[in-house]
Amino acid sequence: MEKRWWHDSVVYQIYPRSFCDSNGDGIGDIQGIISKLDYIQSLGADVIWLSPVYQSPMDDNGYDISDYQAIAPEFGTMEDMRELLDKAKQRDIRIVMDLVVNHTSDEHPWFVEAKSNPDSEYRDFYIWRDAKEDGSKPNDIDSIFGGSAWQWDEENQQYFFHLFSKRQPDLNWENPTLHQKVFDMMNWWIDQGIGGFRLDVIDLIGKEIDKGITGNGERLHPLLQKMNQATFGDKDLLTVGETWGATPDIAKLYSNPDRDELSMVFQFEHITLTWQDGDKWQPKPLDLVEFKQVLTKWQVELKNDGWNSLFWNNHDLPRVVSKYGCDKEFRVESAKMLATTLHFMKGTPYIFQGEEIGMTNVAFDTIDQYKDIETLNFYKVKTESGVSHDHMLKAIHENGRDNARTPMHWNNSSNAGFTSGQPWIELNPNYQTINVSDALEDKNSIFYHYQQLIALRKAHPVIVYGDFIPLLEDHSQVFAYERKDENEHIVVINNFSKERINVSLPSHLSGKSCTTLITNESTLTAIPETCTLNPYESFALKIEG
Ligand code: NOJ
Repeated sequence: MEKRWWHDSVVYQIYPRSFCDSNGDGIGDIQGIISKLDYIQSLGADVIWLSPVYQSPMDDNGYDISDYQAIAPEFGTMEDMRELLDKAKQRDIRIVMDLVVNHTSDEHPWFVEAKSNPDSEYRDFYIWRDAKEDGSKPNDIDSIFGGSAWQWDEENQQYFFHLFSKRQPDLNWENPTLHQKVFDMMNWWIDQGIGGFRLDVIDLIGKEIDKGITGNGERLHPLLQKMNQATFGDKDLLTVGETWGATPDIAKLYSNPDRDELSMVFQFEHITLTWQDGDKWQPKPLDLVEFKQVLTKWQVELKNDGWNSLFWNNHDLPRVVSKYGCDKEFRVESAKMLATTLHFMKGTPYIFQGEEIGMTNVAFDTIDQYKDIETLNFYKVKTESGVSHDHMLKAIHENGRDNARTPMHWNNSSNAGFTSGQPWIELNPNYQTINVSDALEDKNSIFYHYQQLIALRKAHPVIVYGDFIPLLEDHSQVFAYERKDENEHIVVINNFSKERINVSLPSHLSGKSCTTLITNESTLTAIPETCTLNPYESFALKIEG
């Protein structure tokens, strides 16, 4: 496989609203990010994925864009953005922008024009349909945020289509004039010196609404090839698609370099394993054997003609230490174990802000403490349809998006050093004990574990390119695997449980001498026949000779 710079990169995701506020308005901003570039550099990350900072009415915290070439005033100015790009570059950090082109805000001039003037060329940039004869909606497609995807527009006596909130009308990717506008905008950003794009819900742009198809429509891959050719194809950029509906075969279509589409995609098969019947509001416990099967499948199937992105959480998902680890007595151990499990796999790892200090889910007592539009919409839709308040609050505690969106904990001063003003969303009260400042002072902190993992990836090509070989596949508590190339051989062993357990290791490994590359507890110099693992114990061993 031809080597690319993003193969051994590690990406740090920033959710700007919640990262660092420089001007005391309670909302994180670009100057706040600039002030933390040294911190990100010290972690060792070499790419920042910046969630949207564009002009937006913030119905969905910036995933509803009203001007792709302007910065939202609460985040700063285009000058600030240029300064961020410059200062990141000085530190060899690239900035990947979030590209949200499945939909715009209803305040985008294209939509304003489309709505007010049916004869305008922008009318067809969106998806309009007449009501059925009986006045009902064109079909039953639901919005991903709850309720119907069709919104009646009184003014036009037509419905328009929105897969997210009704303030996020979907763009009509059947219109070639729209393509050109989007490509021009992308090229403008490329000219500003960005490092690439994260393409929001990109698997939805080939939708065939009248057939009821939203994801993975027939036109999707030709559209991406067209986009690639018209924009980033001949530039050396990282492109990562958000693709909830991808299987490994589909992921190869996106990420096989011969097909000229994207560098990689985010797949979510491992995430939805803890959702009963695909419904995040019905959480179910993790089945580790199933989890390993899914991740192993992705590792093995994308081996030669595709590339994986590796992540446990992002701004839409609960905090990993709360989800798959233990956020109480084994918080530090389990956070390190989860990091090791992920960072030794093949692919490009992504770290979501705060993950590197083991930030946890938040459990607000009342619904009005929540700010996320998805959470609030679903709370309404579900409780109106008979689901109890208690059920919903519990599900929100477990899977709601605001778990990831409470402000970053910089120190233990008021508001965790995030803002000198009134934060836009309450903080997780545990910032007194979980914060960056304490982490930097403790050489055994989760932060330094991540730093070490990133350094190991840079030092051992086997982590980046070696084969992935699963071990102990049927074990219900241990996630273990080997990484191997012609020069190096690494064994990674992780206890995903709260119990102290004895594990018999495969005979081809036992007795081999090894060095411990990273551990959250014991150091081994030889692989034992039977290994005793403490709760959440984890290590990566390099086989010698
Ligand atoms: C996926 C984004 O990650 C999420 O935050 C957003 O709400 C939807 N796409 C709509 O843009």
